[in-house]
Amino acid sequence: MISEPTPVIYLNNAATTWPKPPGVLEEVAACLRVPVHEAGRTTGRGSTDYPSAARDALAAFFHAGPPEHFIFTQNATDSLNLLIHGFVKKTGKPFHTITTELEHNSVLRPLTTLEQDGVITLSVVPFTDNTVSLAAIKNAICPETRLVVMNHGSNVLGSVQDIKPIAEYLNANDIFFIVDGAQTAGHIPVDLADIPLDAFVFTGHKALFGIPGIGGFFIREPNAVAITRQGGTGSDSQTLIQPKNMPERFECGTHNYPGIASIYAGIGFINTVGIQEIERTGTDLTGRFTRELKRTKGITLYNEKPDLPVVAFDIAGIDNQEVGFILARAYNIIMRTGLHCAPLVHKRIDGGKGCVRASFSYFTTREEIGTAAAAIREVAESADR
Ligand SMILES: Cc1ncc(COP(=O)(O)O)c(C=O)c1O
Repeated sequence: MISEPTPVIYLNNAATTWPKPPGVLEEVAACLRVPVHEAGRTTGRGSTDYPSAARDALAAFFHAGPPEHFIFTQNATDSLNLLIHGFVKKTGKPFHTITTELEHNSVLRPLTTLEQDGVITLSVVPFTDNTVSLAAIKNAICPETRLVVMNHGSNVLGSVQDIKPIAEYLNANDIFFIVDGAQTAGHIPVDLADIPLDAFVFTGHKALFGIPGIGGFFIREPNAVAITRQGGTGSDSQTLIQPKNMPERFECGTHNYPGIASIYAGIGFINTVGIQEIERTGTDLTGRFTRELKRTKGITLYNEKPDLPVVAFDIAGIDNQEVGFILARAYNIIMRTGLHCAPLVHKRIDGGKGCVRASFSYFTTREEIGTAAAAIREVAESADR
């Protein structure tokens, strides 16, 4: 039985965006209404080859190519695992890796596992003023450094890293650079023609407005990452080993066609609105919300001027899980509370206890921002300090 959503103020868009643009829902339905068509795998006429159309859309959106270098996976976590483990397998001997305190567990856990297995040594670079600088990365580099993995945007602090100079330096020094763009893709312009990184990870269900279960990555030089998955691709079926060509090198098994259709339509929506307009809306909403919270007694803001529409805060005298519970039950406002899968950020900003996070999308309204800020003020005023 399909249940209709009750009216809520949804401010958990950094976890997954809601609502999705109507065109996304229609494209997913359209994709399921007709037989699957994908060149090389299935025959078919008259229906859209969604993987091919979505790769073209991604290549144009991120200014990178060729389109076959955009690989579909389940999500950003899946992409990071494929890239990190594939790079380690290709390198073949232990090496030094750098990551940062800003990372999500989808970076920290694969790297820590490899460190514990003795496959890599790992340096975790601290952040200053919510960002990680090139100087901090340089400081951690040693002759054995082969890999840097870091995020473009923090999912707790909403800070965007200046990855261009970092990419240029790492590129010049032959150090592989994987950027986790889970929080930036779809929120701000990302011009991969201008940033010489090696691999850029995105997810479908956040600001690209796709549905859960689809993500991917762009890789500039596919041979730098070994094949770690094998299976059917629809091409070279006579050989018992995985084809080395793209995208089959990294994609096997049946595609998530509805998910891929949702990314295709999500990018279409962003292009119609304009990524600059989406960024401007996010900045406007975030500015209004932080201004209100700054005026509220008992609130600690962990990021006064985030680059992304993500605001992390604490209300003195009341546990953040309880804040989330009250907001949901009494006000029908959904935010995220706790550690947000980025434990090292919390260790720095709140002693590891976690915080409340409000995150907005293009569909969040100024009215919702005002209502949410007023609700938070009421909760803060009622807190036992
Ligand atoms: C910075 C960052 N990286 C990775 C992820 C994981 O994304 P996914 O759910 O698509 O695996 C998230 C999700 O919250 C994130 O914020």
